[in-house]
Amino acid sequence: MDLRRLSTKCITDLEKLITITCTDREGEKYSLEAPTDMNLNLMEVLRAHDLPVEGVCGGMALCASCHCYIHSDHELSDPSEDEEDMLDQAFFVEDNSRLSCQIKIEESLDGLDVELAPVSE
Ligand code: FES
Repeated sequence: MDLRRLSTKCITDLEKLITITCTDREGEKYSLEAPTDMNLNLMEVLRAHDLPVEGVCGGMALCASCHCYIHSDHELSDPSEDEEDMLDQAFFVEDNSRLSCQIKIEESLDGLDVELAPVSE
């Protein structure tokens, strides 16, 4: 592959990265990069950056172990009935609560600001 094509490919790949800010349960803030072309959800991105998100059900909206708060005003898809049902059973639910596994990573989420919800002991 010639260098010009390689550098064009790298630039294209970089354009597919967005940045997400995440605050962990100790109040520490992290800036995370996430690719928009890998069909990932937010829970998978948080886990890939070693944040303490269990994701017990693997992203099926069945456990709430990926519960987070959305602090920015990004337009997210409305929660599904399954997500709403799960949040109804979760602890520490706020108006801005979402299950991170139900949030698909896409370009419009660049700059998203999330916080991990507390876990019940
Ligand atoms: S990983 Fe289980 S609800 Fe999100």
